[in-house]
Amino acid sequence: MLAELSSALIVEVERAAELLKAKQRICLLTGAGISAESGIPTFRDKQTGLWENYRAEDLATPDAFARDPKLVWSWYQWRRQLVASKKPNPAHTALAQWQYHSQSTNQQLTLITQNVDDLHEQAGSTVTHLHGNLWRNRCSRCETPYQNQNSSKSAYDSEDSIDFDEALITCQHCDGYIRPDIVWFGESLPAQAWQIAEDAAADCEVFISIGTSSLVYPAAGLAQSAKHNGAKIIEINPYPTPNTLVDITLAAKAGVILPALIKTMGIL
Ligand code: APR
Repeated sequence: MLAELSSALIVEVERAAELLKAKQRICLLTGAGISAESGIPTFRDKQTGLWENYRAEDLATPDAFARDPKLVWSWYQWRRQLVASKKPNPAHTALAQWQYHSQSTNQQLTLITQNVDDLHEQAGSTVTHLHGNLWRNRCSRCETPYQNQNSSKSAYDSEDSIDFDEALITCQHCDGYIRPDIVWFGESLPAQAWQIAEDAAADCEVFISIGTSSLVYPAAGLAQSAKHNGAKIIEINPYPTPNTLVDITLAAKAGVILPALIKTMGIL
């Protein structure tokens, strides 16, 4: 596992492990990069196939849905089909193992994600979702939650039963269009989830940013809040980001770094 890393990176993993072993309150923020090794494209990746001429930023907005609800709904049905068969990778598993281990130590781990997939949960983690859940729907007008077989995960669970109906659905209460229960650009984050994230960031001793471009606020501001309150910042990302607050950079894939990190901490 460590053999996959350069000697310079091993030194950084060891520094991070020493720091983490000495601290109790850890806040972790994950983004699309943690699911990349499971085969789910990140938001900044160019889209492929049917959707190659569209940008995620132009579809995941309330304006786009108001203008062309069918287009946006079809895109989400396609994304659901893409994500349905995906499984947690070693990064998700390592975080779940660390979280499980922390129950028998005095470490307090708060895991926050910007992702709308359920790979952290599949790996066994408890996680707070800041940007909603790909497998939930609600009315775009009256906000009533909506459950329908053609948009629920069970409809995609096996390749044979894929049925991603692109027809729009209307709310039985108000006739508004049903939309995914996801936070789009320009929309507010769910208040309770945001409170958990803000509190954990402000109170932590180490903040770990994993697989996020740190471009989208308010989530990107959590590291600033942590730093402001004296926390050390660790970043796990194979590519540089605009986050200038980082104390330790672990520049490789999360699926390589996280298992190595928890092993070095003595958890595996
Ligand atoms: N391990 C770790 N990081 C990786 C990996 C990997 N294997 N592969 C890619 N990355 C990094 C990329 O370098 C990039 O910095 O993951 C990051 C993904 O960035 P984004 O696609 O911008 O994803 P994210 O930061 O989660 O986006 C934030 O923007 O579109 C909105 O609401 C959406 O939640 C999303 C938010």
